[in-house]
Amino acid sequence: MKALVTGGAGFIGSHTVDKMIDRGWDVTIIDNLSTGLRANINAGAKFIEMDIVSNDLPEVFVREKFDYVVHLAAQTAVPYSIEHPDTDCRVNLLGLVNVLEACRRTSVKRVVVASSAAVYGDADSLPIAEDGLLNPASFYGLTKLTGEKYLALYSQIHGVDYVALRYANVYGERQGEGGEGGVVSIFTRKIYQDQPVHIFGDGGQTRDFIYVGDVAEANCQALTAPQTAANRVYNISTQTQISVNDLVAILAEAAGKQVDKLYSPARAGDIYHSMLSNRAAVNDIYWKPQMPLAEGLQRTYYSLNK
Ligand SMILES: NC(=O)c1ccc[n+]([C@@H]2O[C@H](COP(=O)([O-])OP(=O)(O)OC[C@H]3O[C@@H](n4cnc5c(N)ncnc54)[C@H](O)[C@@H]3O)[C@@H](O)[C@H]2O)c1
Repeated sequence: MKALVTGGAGFIGSHTVDKMIDRGWDVTIIDNLSTGLRANINAGAKFIEMDIVSNDLPEVFVREKFDYVVHLAAQTAVPYSIEHPDTDCRVNLLGLVNVLEACRRTSVKRVVVASSAAVYGDADSLPIAEDGLLNPASFYGLTKLTGEKYLALYSQIHGVDYVALRYANVYGERQGEGGEGGVVSIFTRKIYQDQPVHIFGDGGQTRDFIYVGDVAEANCQALTAPQTAANRVYNISTQTQISVNDLVAILAEAAGKQVDKLYSPARAGDIYHSMLSNRAAVNDIYWKPQMPLAEGLQRTYYSLNK
């Protein structure tokens, strides 16, 4: 089985590649190393340093004849998308279209694409299911939502099979600090360095934190899930919520340290509570999150020691 992972040198991508190699798949990575690291690249994978917007991308598809594609390469920083909507649009939409065109021309069997909880607006009730109100508050959320619509049309018009996965807040080893959901990574480093953590708002705001290994597993399972699961969008989440204050408490316990918290006013546009339903993914993709939060946070903290 030949698979391509775009963004495979990044946080979620490198864990996805590791799982594929463990399954004995033949894996290629395309990444421009803009936020990804060479050190994250699994030695068992073939690495091509390339921008997903590049005109050379189709040629790679023709040469390599991939069966499956997981498309994760993206501009991932929400604040950056507000300041630089042009770059966000270029990478997240033109890049996606370049990948989809190459998929259709080389008859790729299925493409799994990273979407995000950022496509949702502020919800009246939790957990948010896939048919919840779509009202992104950032250009990043907008390019992810528009990307989903491109996928639906590529499937309808050209028969390209897809699964779009709306990840909740992903955390775990190898996470950078710049992208979406980087709060765990930022706090972990601060605690490791014996510094206070900085909380926007009162810390009562909740998020649905999901371990990166569980997300990587969802990427793999979505590729090979039955045809009935294809051409749909799924939340990938734990369907639980934890407050930022409790997150700090669990991290402090994992580290065995006292942690000072500094509070400042909430940021404009930040939602207060967030939790995504994962029922559809559990039913259709036969995927279930496995990692307990305390253990995942402990692994994340101790990975800084390596
Ligand atoms: N981390 C989260 O909490 C989260 C939540 C929802 C969705 N996502 C999505 O998951 C995907 C992976 O995110 P991540 O957290 O692993 O981020 P990441 O920054 O670690 O990974 C992105 C990878 O893509 C590469 N890349 C970026 N632009 C590229 C380009 N133009 N051409 C080629 N490669 C390029 C980067 O070098 C990096 O290796 C993204 O699509 C992101 O939007 C992440």
